[in-house]
Amino acid sequence: MNRIVTLDEFIIQKQKDFAYASGELTGLLRDIGVAAKIVNREVNKAGLVNILGEDGSANATGDTVQKLDMYANEKLIDCLKNSGECCGIASEENESFIPIPSVESKNAKYVVVFDPLDGSSNIDVNVSVGTIFGIYRRISDVSGPCEMKDFLQKGTELVAAGYVIYGTSTILVYTTGRGVNGFTLDPTIGEFCLSHKDIKIPNRGQYYSVNQGYYLKFDVEMRRYIDYCSDLNLRLRYIGSMVSDIHRTLFQGGIFLYPNTRKYPQGKLRLLYECNPLAFVVEQAGGKAITTQLNRILDIEPSDLHERQTIVIGSPDMIDEMKEFVERYSVPAYTKAT
Ligand code: AHG
Ligand code: MN
Ligand code: MN
Repeated sequence: MNRIVTLDEFIIQKQKDFAYASGELTGLLRDIGVAAKIVNREVNKAGLVNILGEDGSANATGDTVQKLDMYANEKLIDCLKNSGECCGIASEENESFIPIPSVESKNAKYVVVFDPLDGSSNIDVNVSVGTIFGIYRRISDVSGPCEMKDFLQKGTELVAAGYVIYGTSTILVYTTGRGVNGFTLDPTIGEFCLSHKDIKIPNRGQYYSVNQGYYLKFDVEMRRYIDYCSDLNLRLRYIGSMVSDIHRTLFQGGIFLYPNTRKYPQGKLRLLYECNPLAFVVEQAGGKAITTQLNRILDIEPSDLHERQTIVIGSPDMIDEMKEFVERYSVPAYTKAT
C-alpha cells in the first residue's frame, strides 16, 4: 500500500524546490488548508443549523449574500490574520482590502485574495460550492502597511493559487507555478491527502459549459460558437458554481464560458477573486484562459479590486478553436461604425 502524503507534508517537501524559500509561503498555504477544513465543516452541516438562506445584505458588487458566505469570509480572514505570513487580504465580500498590522504579521511579504464561497446560490439545494484563493508577493515597502497596488497585480504575478470544492468529497487543488496537485479531505483523519498528482487538462473534451439561458444576450460570434458546440454534439453542463464547473473541465476537458451579457456588459466574474486564480491553475495544468476579446486573462492589468471580466477557459485546443470563431465572425470595426 502506498503511504499517504498529507497536504502539510507535501507543501513542506515542495518548499525545497524554491531556492530562497523561507517557509512563509508554506505556512500561508497550510493556514488556507486549515481554513478550508473549518469552512468544510460548516458547509457539511449547513442543513442542520440556521445558516442557510440569504442574510438580506448585498456584497461589494451588489449580489445577494448568503449567510454561509459571511461565515466562510470570517473564518478565512481569522485564519489569515493569525497566520502571521500575510499583511493584507482582499475578499469578494469586502468593499476594500483589509490591512493586517505588522505586529501580527511580522512584516509579512504576502497578500491574499479570495472568493470565500463561490456558487452561493447553490447552498440551499445541496449542490457543490467552493473557495477560490490567490497569493501575491507584496510590492509595497515591507516596513509599512500593505497598499492597493499590492492587490492590483496582474495574474502573471501570482505566487500561488487554488480552490477548494465542497462536493461529494472535499478537494483542495493548488499550484505554486510548478504544476497542479489535488488533495482529498479524509474526514476520518481530518487531513487533506494527495489524491491527484500533477493534474493535466485534456487537450479537448466532450463538454461545454455556459449559461445557455442568456444565449440571446450574447454577442453574435459567441452565439455562433455555442451553436457550433451544439452541432458537434458536445454535452452541455452548467452547475452555476464556477469552481465546480472548472473542476470538471480540469479533469474531463471541455470549455467554460462566461461572456458579456446586457446585465453584465463587462462579464460577471471577478478578475481578482475568480478569473485570475482559476486561470493560473488551468494554465499550469496545460489549459488556456482568455477573455471574449481574446486577451489572456493573466495579462490583464487590474484597475479595481472588484473588476469583472469575461472569461473563456479550459482545454487548449478548444480555446484556440473558439478564438478562430470569434476572429471569423466578429463584425469588423468599420462595419460597426456605420
Ligand atoms: P458567487 O457565488 O461567488 O457570487 O459566484 C457565482 C458565480 C460563479 O460561481 C458562477 O459561475 C456564476 O456566478 C453563475 O452565474 P449565473 O447564474 O449568471 O450563470
Ligand atoms: Mn464566486
Ligand atoms: Mn462568493
